[in-house]
Amino acid sequence: MKKVGVLTGGGDCPGLNAVIRAVVKSASEKYDYKVTGIEDGFEGLVLPDKTRDLTPQSIRGILSVGGTMLGTTNRANPFEYKITIDGRSETRDISREVLGNIQSMGLDALIVIGGDGTLKIAYELFKRGCPVVGVPKTIDNDILATDVTFGFRTAVQTATDALDRLHTTAESHHRVMVVEVMGRYVGWIALETGIGGGADVILIPEIPFDMERVCKKIDDRKNSGSRSSIVVVAEGAKPVGGDISILCPAETGGSAERLGGLGNKVGANISCHGREVRVTVLGHVQRGGSPCAFDRILSTQFGVAAMDLIANKRFGEMVCLRGKRIESVSLSEVTQGQKKVPTEEGLVKVAESIGISFGR
Ligand code: F6P
Repeated sequence: MKKVGVLTGGGDCPGLNAVIRAVVKSASEKYDYKVTGIEDGFEGLVLPDKTRDLTPQSIRGILSVGGTMLGTTNRANPFEYKITIDGRSETRDISREVLGNIQSMGLDALIVIGGDGTLKIAYELFKRGCPVVGVPKTIDNDILATDVTFGFRTAVQTATDALDRLHTTAESHHRVMVVEVMGRYVGWIALETGIGGGADVILIPEIPFDMERVCKKIDDRKNSGSRSSIVVVAEGAKPVGGDISILCPAETGGSAERLGGLGNKVGANISCHGREVRVTVLGHVQRGGSPCAFDRILSTQFGVAAMDLIANKRFGEMVCLRGKRIESVSLSEVTQGQKKVPTEEGLVKVAESIGISFGR
């Protein structure tokens, strides 16, 4: 019987368990494959005793559960693996060892569920002969060649619910509420949350903002009788001519730089302008909890499609959504960059048509 390994890499996101479940179910129902779960991303291909058999029994009940039953980490890149020798830490390329481990585990193929960083590692392993298939995951929705990633819609719903709650308290106190949302270097979460949650200003990385214009929008609203305003700030947005707000720099072979702090900066600027402001940083609330129905369905489609690719030996590809169809695309194409928000069409134009300001 053939054996496929499955791992989840990078930050967690709602819908990961639903993909794992679909892989395991279709491996047993549609194909005659065994599934091995690899724990903590690529770490499970380096350290011993980090694998377990996944059966239809062992994945029972996980469809609606957030996070990942396999665990994950963004600190185990086999091409820049951090090790400590005599108290000194250094990074090494241990990809050959990982490829050897995949063989000795008896895996015929590997399903890698992850965001851009994890998919890049998958592609590098593929180029070195590993029979790998990718599944795109991220709340940020920044992966090329797929209309949407699972986890994104759940994150937008969570953030929109938060905006609904902030409206009532903002209105009662005549305050400006600034809400910082995730998204790294793209503004998809901020844009859709801002429209869905009725924001007055949305700041996204793709449109550098002018603080004067943001304050003018808030003043105009006050002058026309709206005593509260809601400003949605993407963590990766930046002012014209300014820099992105970074909490912690990236580590070699480890986690990426941590963004954050822009919400407080924008809030401070607005209060200097004479308005009472409160800032909410939604943070990891957006990543936790149960996936919405859309994400459960998309995750299930992706899991089944990943097994189809493996059964047809279509290695080096990633499953994706295009329109209503589940298709696949080469990992080489996907790892070329990030999917940004278009600034002169689509939802940005819809938002501007109803008076939402992007500070431009
Ligand atoms: O990529 C998903 C994401 O949630 C980003 O939106 C955010 O910047 C980052 O991960 C946070 O990462 P961590 O969980 O390492 O703090």
